[in-house]
Amino acid sequence: MTDVINQYIEQEEQRQLEMIGLIPSENHISPEVSEVLSSTLNSKYAEGYPGRRYYEGNQLVDKIENEARDRIKELFKVPYVNVQPYSGSPANSAIEFALLEPGDTLMGLALSGGGHLTHGHPRVTFSGKYFNSVQYQLDENARIDFKKLRELALEHKPKLIIVGTTAYPFILEFDKFREIADEVGAWLLADISHITGLIIAGEHPSPVPYADVIMSTTHKTFRGPRGAMIMVTDRGLERDSTLGGKIDMAIIPGLQGGPHNATTAGIAIAAAEAMKPEFKAYGQQVMTNAQALAKSLQDEGLKLVGDGTENHLMLIDLTPQGFGLGTQVAFAMDVAGMYANRNSIPHEPCSPFYPSGIRLGTPLVTTRGMKEAEMNQIAGWIAQVVEIVKDYELPQDRKDRSKFIKEFRENVRNDQRLLEIREEVIKLAKKFPLFVW
Ligand SMILES: Cc1ncc(COP(=O)(O)O)c(C=O)c1O
Repeated sequence: MTDVINQYIEQEEQRQLEMIGLIPSENHISPEVSEVLSSTLNSKYAEGYPGRRYYEGNQLVDKIENEARDRIKELFKVPYVNVQPYSGSPANSAIEFALLEPGDTLMGLALSGGGHLTHGHPRVTFSGKYFNSVQYQLDENARIDFKKLRELALEHKPKLIIVGTTAYPFILEFDKFREIADEVGAWLLADISHITGLIIAGEHPSPVPYADVIMSTTHKTFRGPRGAMIMVTDRGLERDSTLGGKIDMAIIPGLQGGPHNATTAGIAIAAAEAMKPEFKAYGQQVMTNAQALAKSLQDEGLKLVGDGTENHLMLIDLTPQGFGLGTQVAFAMDVAGMYANRNSIPHEPCSPFYPSGIRLGTPLVTTRGMKEAEMNQIAGWIAQVVEIVKDYELPQDRKDRSKFIKEFRENVRNDQRLLEIREEVIKLAKKFPLFVW
């Protein structure tokens, strides 16, 4: 008899096949990456680094980790790489731990402007609690407010400035960040988690000439296993030749124990895949699809933050349709077979928990082989979903909200119009495997 866990995994695979995934931070991995993740490498402890392990029997694990590091160095043309972080959040913590002392000042983009929790979100996070965090924001056009950022930097003299985003539909101007960092003598960390694949494909400017340290998760547009990598640039090493060693130490013994060797192997395989011309074509199609999806959504009458996108993601601003609609639309899209996430929009008028936006991205659907025609169909379905639920505005009174959402879910779960869209979505989705070259 199979374990119920295996049944759930089969059902999850079916769910992914039948639905259309629009979460910009997710991706499907190749069968080759998948294969190494369930290999015997999982059984091995390898605390330390190649040639300097605390455990015997790591001759081959050493070769794998060296190969992974060399491939990333080659891909990005950087002199130092660490592939051991368990994921993006511990990687950012390690970099902060390596570059700063407790109480030092760091600057990052506020969560509400599309930044990440680990970039100094106040009070509840490691980066916001142990350091003096100053958050910069967006201007009235939803773009990074460089004027204000510079003023804040001059006033607070941060030791570290972080550039990196989770919900920002525009190009990141690394050169402008560098100028400000240089003015105040700060380290510049580029967290490129979302856009790594686009950078490799030449679809987004690279931070390598500008940043001192670069962090990327490996499971988003890079299409590798869940993990992260830290790079130090030539510029970073020129400023401090011991920077690589400091980051190694911050990972272990600073924050982690043994590396996840199967993940390391998966990063090496994904790096080899990212060197292929087909990966460049993938990155280009992610962008083409994002343009097509954005345009079709706008043609359907939906408003996008910043009027469109310059990368792989976009944010629908639902405020023209009503108050606090993000939660309702995300839930109804899921009922209709398309999964995305609710998201704050810049200068959010409702609340972070019940925000007014939907974040959409094209990495998943592009990995499945979908193109512009499918983006057009998807936009049409999303517009229909919005139309169906737009009258379910969030109550103004906060205390009524959770009951309202509960009742909304009950009502909408079996809405015939949404279930009809779902049938259409399934028909389309089933034509596309999860991963194609
Ligand atoms: C820009 C950025 N940095 C860091 C992270 C954290 O990565 P993880 O979820 O792997 O900890 C994310 C994840 O969403 C991200 O988008």
